[in-house]
Amino acid sequence: MSENKREQIIEQRKKFLYPTKIAYYKNPLHLVKAKGSYVWDDQGKKYLDFIGGIICISVGHNHPAIKNKMKEMIDGDAIQHTTYLYLSEYMADFAEKLAKVAPGDLSKVYMTNSGSEANEMAVMTARAATGRQMVLSLRHGYHGGTNVPLGLCGHGTWKFEGQPQASVSHVQAPYCYRCPWGKERNTCNLECADEVQEVIDTTTDGNIAAFICEPILGVGGFIDAPVGYHKKVYDIVKRAGGMYISDEVQTGVGRTGKNFFAIADSEVVPDFITMAKGIGNGAPVGAVITKTEHADALKGKLHFNTFGGDPYQAMQAGKVIDIIKDENLIENAEKMGHYLKEGFMDLQKDFPIIGDIRGRGLLLGLELVLDAKSKNPNPEAASKLMETARSENILIGKGGLRGNVVRLAPSMAITKNECDELLIGLRRAFRNL
Ligand SMILES: Cc1ncc(COP(=O)(O)O)c(C=O)c1O
Repeated sequence: MSENKREQIIEQRKKFLYPTKIAYYKNPLHLVKAKGSYVWDDQGKKYLDFIGGIICISVGHNHPAIKNKMKEMIDGDAIQHTTYLYLSEYMADFAEKLAKVAPGDLSKVYMTNSGSEANEMAVMTARAATGRQMVLSLRHGYHGGTNVPLGLCGHGTWKFEGQPQASVSHVQAPYCYRCPWGKERNTCNLECADEVQEVIDTTTDGNIAAFICEPILGVGGFIDAPVGYHKKVYDIVKRAGGMYISDEVQTGVGRTGKNFFAIADSEVVPDFITMAKGIGNGAPVGAVITKTEHADALKGKLHFNTFGGDPYQAMQAGKVIDIIKDENLIENAEKMGHYLKEGFMDLQKDFPIIGDIRGRGLLLGLELVLDAKSKNPNPEAASKLMETARSENILIGKGGLRGNVVRLAPSMAITKNECDELLIGLRRAFRNL
């Protein structure tokens, strides 16, 4: 594709899109083709994709099982759109498959178009079921760009003037690398979990509708709570009569390498799990799954979303579950995650600006700092690394409140050779900073 076309797109974006629609890279990338773990730009240049949109590619780009089913549906003039007011095998099949991989007695599904909508739905259901409004969320947490999720958001960078956040209290994050209590990961007393009780005691009447958190805080820079945190918080939330919402938009579908949903790693059965991104492998689909009695709280009222569970989206989400099982991708995520982590530890020896290596499975973050002692955030290095990695034909992401955490989340079908390609390229990218 010509340089003129690229410039035209950039010009159109400037003129016609909201200014919040920013692009990665000084010279924005125009991706036009994808297969497996790789993507190609408009000049035919191939990149190893270690971020998958933003953590959407779970089973690999253009997986043949999804592609073939899409072709079959298109060739057979399958209905493109039908709301839930008519029957659709795809939504029903997806709901059943999801209930089979969800922990405990979670079995009632509501399909949405996005993660934000899934969180809206979970909070709304929790409020209806408890008759209360107060929701607790984590600082550094992110739950989407619509009204309620933005109120829950723990990042000033994502909040606009006039953004309401009624009936929400924010709790300190379980951020071990920068522990607000100055404690160490394996020797602390889970002060971060006690903080939930403190916030309930000081900012609510003692009863809450819900507590929402990501098992690993994604946008926050892959902050992974210490062992025991979720269980302890779950008990506190239950004592306050609240519901536990696990936002698995980033951590879901087995990416953390043990269970289909990361909260199960902590032996907690939450009241709600919300998901999007990886569940559709890039298709615009989200969902919430909950217990029958919570879903029943909405009985007798009308609630509608036009596109949730549309045939093509629901088919793709169902296939994602099948592929993850058939190809043992959860095991692969765990194995490749360990392999990459070891590689990052080697890298850290040579590049001490890598202050912290964290995450689980194929949700891995490198927090970049000016030096290990001061731990001062180094967002400039993270931005530069995005560029130098691109020069090595590798796409990575970044996040964290200060923008100093490199995020790596490839397809769960990533191979050892592709991990080696990443490690070699990343080493060169760090060298060229
Ligand atoms: C943890 C988490 N929850 C919710 C969302 C919102 O999802 P969506 O952008 O599909 O609305 C995101 C998006 O990045 C997310 O990371």
